[in-house]
Amino acid sequence: MTLSSRPKIELHLHHEGAAPPAFIKRLAQEKKVDISRVFNEQGDYSYTDFWDFLKVYEAATSVLQTPEDYARLTRAVLAESAANGVIYSETFLSPDFCGGRDVGAWREYLHAIREAADQAEREDGIVLRGIVTCIRHFGPEKARETALCAAETAGDWIVGFGIAGDEQAGKPKDFAYSFDMAREAGLRLTAHAGEWGGPDSVRDALDDLRVERIGHGVRAIEDLALVDRLAEDGVVLEVCPGSNIALGVYKTWADHPIHALRERGVKVTVSTDDPPFFHTTMTDEYDRLAATFDWDEGVFEDIENTSLSAAFCDQATKDALKKRLETR
Ligand code: ADE
Ligand code: ZN
Repeated sequence: MTLSSRPKIELHLHHEGAAPPAFIKRLAQEKKVDISRVFNEQGDYSYTDFWDFLKVYEAATSVLQTPEDYARLTRAVLAESAANGVIYSETFLSPDFCGGRDVGAWREYLHAIREAADQAEREDGIVLRGIVTCIRHFGPEKARETALCAAETAGDWIVGFGIAGDEQAGKPKDFAYSFDMAREAGLRLTAHAGEWGGPDSVRDALDDLRVERIGHGVRAIEDLALVDRLAEDGVVLEVCPGSNIALGVYKTWADHPIHALRERGVKVTVSTDDPPFFHTTMTDEYDRLAATFDWDEGVFEDIENTSLSAAFCDQATKDALKKRLETR
């Protein structure tokens, strides 16, 4: 079986960050919004570093203005994921962008996204679930409103709560109230850490937010005592190697610590983060990992099983996905 046709589980994908640039450009034209700074001459997303990436991301997102826009986005994103063999995707959804953190408006956006996802599941067999995500650089007050949106819609479709954005803004403990609210509503928890912050950022996310997964987490490798803690406690890392290389966290694929983390017993998974921004797909990630670290089918099988057990969806959904992984 080729790597592209292997059924894949993706746990770390930002919904707006997965928008094809042509899709955003078309929407900007329809709405007569000038976002020309978002693109380069080739029509690709254009940014200089991570912080500029966040600005460009928000500028691109500004053309997504209605629930129908998000329905269209969902169809475009899931078609691309399904074409790369993804059978299950956990996607970060931000009420900050979907209805300005108003619970009623957020419900409208969610309804539109879910309808589009149901259609994609019927047509392409891809299953989508949502992780409501607050944005760190928008601050703790806005995060509380986001957590309220999450708590109000927690269930078998909104399955998790997380935090993304500028890891250097504030501290994880500033967001503990929001994470407590989400946990009390039954949501499973993940946090971006150890991408731009060092090992301490991962420790703080574990201790102060009590998350069971870490988005990225790769810079834990700078502290082997922390690596051993991750391995012993079974903390799952949502690793996005192509993203880390595109943004300059590591210079080359060979420098990336995913292999070393796995060798030392850490549960790693593979995702794309914001694929068109980083010129990647799930197939590309698999291809590059196989070429760089000589990973064979057994390694990818192990990673897919780790991803499935770390997914936040219910057991019935996992059982159905497991069957599809087994019949590959
Ligand atoms: N939002 C979208 N992509 C992100 C990333 N890689 N890190 C933090 N926040 C993000
Ligand atoms: Zn991310």
